[in-house]
Amino acid sequence: MNVSISEFKDYVGQAVTVSGWLYNKRSSGPIAFLELRDGSGWTQAVAVQKSLSPEVWSAVEQVTQESSVVVTGTISKHPKKENIFELQVADLRILQLATEYPIAKKDHGPDFLMDNRHLWLRSRKQWAILRLRDSIIMAINIYLHQERFIKIDSPIFTPNACEGTTTLFSVPYFDLGTAYLSQSGQLYIEAAIASVGRCYDFGPVFRAEKSKTKRHLTEFWMMDAEAAFVEHAGNLALQEGLVRFIVRYCLEHCLEELTILERDVEKLKLADNPFTRYGYDEAIKKLNELGSDIKYGEDLGNDDEGLLTKDSTVPVFIEKWPKGIKPFYMKRDPNNPELVLNDDLIATDGGGELIGGSQREENVDLLIARMKDEGLNQADYEWYLDTRRFGSVPHSGFGIGLERTVRWIAGVEHIRECIPFPRTIGRLRP
Ligand code: 4AD
Ligand code: MG
Repeated sequence: MNVSISEFKDYVGQAVTVSGWLYNKRSSGPIAFLELRDGSGWTQAVAVQKSLSPEVWSAVEQVTQESSVVVTGTISKHPKKENIFELQVADLRILQLATEYPIAKKDHGPDFLMDNRHLWLRSRKQWAILRLRDSIIMAINIYLHQERFIKIDSPIFTPNACEGTTTLFSVPYFDLGTAYLSQSGQLYIEAAIASVGRCYDFGPVFRAEKSKTKRHLTEFWMMDAEAAFVEHAGNLALQEGLVRFIVRYCLEHCLEELTILERDVEKLKLADNPFTRYGYDEAIKKLNELGSDIKYGEDLGNDDEGLLTKDSTVPVFIEKWPKGIKPFYMKRDPNNPELVLNDDLIATDGGGELIGGSQREENVDLLIARMKDEGLNQADYEWYLDTRRFGSVPHSGFGIGLERTVRWIAGVEHIRECIPFPRTIGRLRP
């Protein structure tokens, strides 16, 4: 019977077959302890020479790290540890005998590991991150559907910028000139809400970011959500609801992964409480008090985000920023036309910015004026301006960076470990 390691608890005492890879091997004379992994988990298989045929024992002796194997044996409970099972080997067949595996148990530098990313993914920590990432994607999809959003896909080749022209990747596009890789699908899902009311996209986006930091990728995944008839306060409530749902979902489904990652789950539990809110002006004041030399009108740097959240157990919203440092589509604050109705959500534990969101300017003339200020070519955006000419409504939305979220929940230091094959300014391979 073929069984996966994650199902072992249901088959104690039974003979089963597992197909997978050898992770590690320790031998002491006539006994070998084989650590096997099959994608669903890890288990120890115990091979005892005297209970095996000479051919099988010879395969046990021969098998190398990362060889692919099919192992048959009986599942037993670990003599001491709760919820841990072992396989008493009766048969072992090598599908392919691996040549010397480059990733040994010793510490390797990050460049070596990144060059071998295709193999490094097999390690326990990377396995845990991949699974956590999948659960976060799942949580986002579930939450949004509970909130009556549907998924709309937005294009990746686009004729114009969404988030400013300085971080665009351009691609030659047949006779039509230059296409740009999408920085965010927001403008497209803004158009789609007039059809379906609430929708989101979730896919890769691209930024030619010159930033060499632990939180910047040139290709990353973003979920952009947009809702008709939702204003600034409702927008913040949706964002908070989403992030708290993700935290709860991961605590419920990913305890094993979080344990492997040595994430402090008590801290994560605390994050599922009402979020703190600062106005931008308050945040600047607080930062100055804490010793930062940031000035009113500047964007928050990495250190500022860390400083502002260092004593917070919950993520922090910074809302209502000066319009000059934010994109053209954000709605002016009716109480102060120098500000916009937007927010950045900053995570705890050095997680940095997870979300950028805002209410959108729904007045076509004000929108055109803002585009002029930004030096954008109106002709490129005529289709977008139509959304304000035919039944414009108050509406809001936000974008959450998937890898930033994975990095925060996993408690991983560098974002390059939060996507299977990272792309940064210095890396395009493998
Ligand atoms: O704050 P951003 O630039 O917002 C937008 O793109 C809006 N159009 C979203 C919207 O309202 N629909 O990006 C959103 C999030 C950031 O908060 C951050 O989590 C992530 O995307 N992000 C990055 N993640 C990794 N590498 C980068 N270079 C990133 N730039 C932004
Ligand atoms: Mg932002």
